[in-house]
Amino acid sequence: MTSIYRSLNLVLLGPPGSGKGTQAKVLSEKYQIPHVSTGDMLREEVRNQTSLGIRAKEIMDRGELLPDDVMAAMILKRLDREDCARGVILDGYPRTVEQAQVLDGILAELGRTLERVVLVDVPDEEIVRRLGGRRSCPRCGRVYHVVYNPPKDGKNCDDCGVPLIQRDDDREEVIRERLRQYHEKTAPLVDFYSNRGLLVSVDGSQSMEAVTASIMEAIGSPVGQ
Ligand code: AP5
Repeated sequence: MTSIYRSLNLVLLGPPGSGKGTQAKVLSEKYQIPHVSTGDMLREEVRNQTSLGIRAKEIMDRGELLPDDVMAAMILKRLDREDCARGVILDGYPRTVEQAQVLDGILAELGRTLERVVLVDVPDEEIVRRLGGRRSCPRCGRVYHVVYNPPKDGKNCDDCGVPLIQRDDDREEVIRERLRQYHEKTAPLVDFYSNRGLLVSVDGSQSMEAVTASIMEAIGSPVGQ
């Protein structure tokens, strides 16, 4: 695809396992803007065994959220990079009203604005099914599902050929806690953004392709399409 959206700062909002990461990867290619996932950034810190990574792993394995000030420092550093100048697809940030206010401040400081917030809506029972079957590539991070989106040979990454793994926080009791955290701390963002006229909601329980089409219809196609 050669055409690009002129500028698009987009937040993907939704419960754990609603498909934010899956959609963000596709949209990032279509709109030619980076996919910024705070979950992926934290997992990289864990892999590199940094002091933040060691602290983050404990919190993530319990299904809880990291403190807002830690996340603010991380996201400011990332959004200030040159590749975000034409926009960004945020996946996993903001997750609290305080984080949303911090994001407003960061974007204002950088001379940018938030164009759209897309809520990827999926019922809790489907979330548990999806996360229980999720597998990912430890090398490139590509995400699969044992039933909905299996790798070609059933166990190795199609791109890297290495065995897929299950995330430590995809155990049922942790999934339940992540959902609890979502409903308590993140769901208030639906009203927060809706009141500002920024929110569009899509049915995330459709097929992956249908969800992509719904999001693109809601936010508009890249320029020239
Ligand atoms: P994070 O990595 O952001 O996890 P999450 O929000 O819980 O979201 P997931 O990555 O689990 O799911 P997803 O919506 O991306 O779904 P996916 O596309 O993979 O955060 C992890 C942890 O880090 C947090 O718990 C917290 O501790 C910490 N953290 C991160 N950000 C933070 C912040 N801002 N503040 C504080 N703490 C923070 O899809 C799921 C599965 O479903 C896959 O198997 C996929 O193949 C399948 N699937 C996707 N779409 C479909 C479809 N349409 N039909 C069928 N299957 C589908």
